[in-house]
Amino acid sequence: HSPAIHIDPARAIDEVDPRIYSGFTEHMGRCIYGGLYEPNNEHGLSDPATGFRFDVLEVLRELKVPLVRYPGGNFVSSYRWQDGIGPKESRPRRPELAWLSEESNQFGTDEFISWCRTLKTEPFICLNMGTGTLEDALAWVEYCNSSSNTYYANLRRKNGHPEPYGVKYWALGNEVWGPWQVGQMESQDYAKKAFQWAKALKLLDPDIKLISCGETGYADWDRVVLRKLAPVVDFHSVHIYTVSQGKHTFNVMGPAAAEKALEITRSLIDLAKIESSLSKELTVCFDEWNVWDPVRAPGEKGAEEHYDLSDALAVASWVNVFVRKADIVKIACIAQSVNVISPIVTSPTGLFRQTTYYPLHLFSNLMRGTSLDVHVTTPSPSAVYMGPTVPSFIQDLTLHTPDSAKLTKIVDVSAVLVDSANRREVRVAIVNRSDAESFQVPILFGPNVRAVAEVITVHEVWSSDLKDGNSFEEEKVKTVVRDEKFSGVYHLKKHSFQILVFTLNS
Ligand code: AHR
Repeated sequence: HSPAIHIDPARAIDEVDPRIYSGFTEHMGRCIYGGLYEPNNEHGLSDPATGFRFDVLEVLRELKVPLVRYPGGNFVSSYRWQDGIGPKESRPRRPELAWLSEESNQFGTDEFISWCRTLKTEPFICLNMGTGTLEDALAWVEYCNSSSNTYYANLRRKNGHPEPYGVKYWALGNEVWGPWQVGQMESQDYAKKAFQWAKALKLLDPDIKLISCGETGYADWDRVVLRKLAPVVDFHSVHIYTVSQGKHTFNVMGPAAAEKALEITRSLIDLAKIESSLSKELTVCFDEWNVWDPVRAPGEKGAEEHYDLSDALAVASWVNVFVRKADIVKIACIAQSVNVISPIVTSPTGLFRQTTYYPLHLFSNLMRGTSLDVHVTTPSPSAVYMGPTVPSFIQDLTLHTPDSAKLTKIVDVSAVLVDSANRREVRVAIVNRSDAESFQVPILFGPNVRAVAEVITVHEVWSSDLKDGNSFEEEKVKTVVRDEKFSGVYHLKKHSFQILVFTLNS
């Protein structure tokens, strides 16, 4: 039962879409206010002109975030975007119904676009399908994208922004299926309404990309929505969070359920396309994913998780899924980007990188290229790893399916081929999800690889205790980079994450 990794660069899945490394900023807790936006910071950490935190921008630049979703999340379902534009002193304060707070509207659409420009990332806006009307949605798209001599385009100009923003990605509502959502709907009702919205929005701006509101990707909601909306949308959204519940191994197995969910979503998309005779591209926008235990870190209290090494391994397992599913997942947004269930935590005097920052940083910087169909033989977890407190959807999706053994492997791997004029590398991301065992892992290259350089570079995230975390004072979990001799077998520490870089000599 000793694990082995088999890699053949000829077995390409698809190009890894850089948009799988995207972010999400919601008006929730300290994500915007006191997070990325803190005017008058007394310690000189914010730009006096814009109020944007320099240090937050710097860390998000390190993470090379290509796309950022905004302004929610649940927040958007009672958000009046018109309150957040124009002179700041005239913007109304409003009750905020998602997280039961107050919204000052000091940060709105213009500030978000300007922040995205500063970060050099692309904006992605979620529309309000709760209290918002189609008229509001059309007005928002016109305000952002129109170059015509019309009211909202002129309002943008009046507010000091002559050029259209060209916001390409627009989502048709957020978690409209959820009982917590303002304006919750039945699937058929949502599908009918969103279809009409999509038609009108594309008449106004045919260049936009629309995202239908999905559930877990395998729910009846997804089936109904895809059937109706496939002809008019470009992406279908999926949201899944995995919890740790203090049981580290459960935590790292959660993403296996997401992987199974994605296989079902792919089939639902295929089915919807067949039924409507569509040959268009329609893929998944996994626009909320992460480790989040809402009991440990409740949304109403700002959902500030304090992550440990086990959570970092779970995040690595999550991104492994997106790399392996490169042919169907084209966008994925970690929820969220600052303070709220986030890889970075700020205070008025600085910030620190949580454990989960490190795998994310490694993936975004190294795992771009062609995703490879890696074959891994590894022991499957026994019942010890999947006890009764595992959320039932994880059990359903991973245990009760014929490929459960494949999904819940202890050693979880993805790989990319980077093939350019000056380098030919295979980069292998490996999570050892065992909290007890280390392994000697043979890494075997297929017949198309003549030779591998004998020195590899190892980027490792590890600590001796799975419960180790970081803080403002101490950084126990971070990336360590080293070169190491490789003669066919890699020593894989227990509960570790690493990306190995192999140079192919051909
Ligand atoms: O990311 C936190 C919340 O989780 C989002 O607002 C919502 O869409 C989801 O339920």
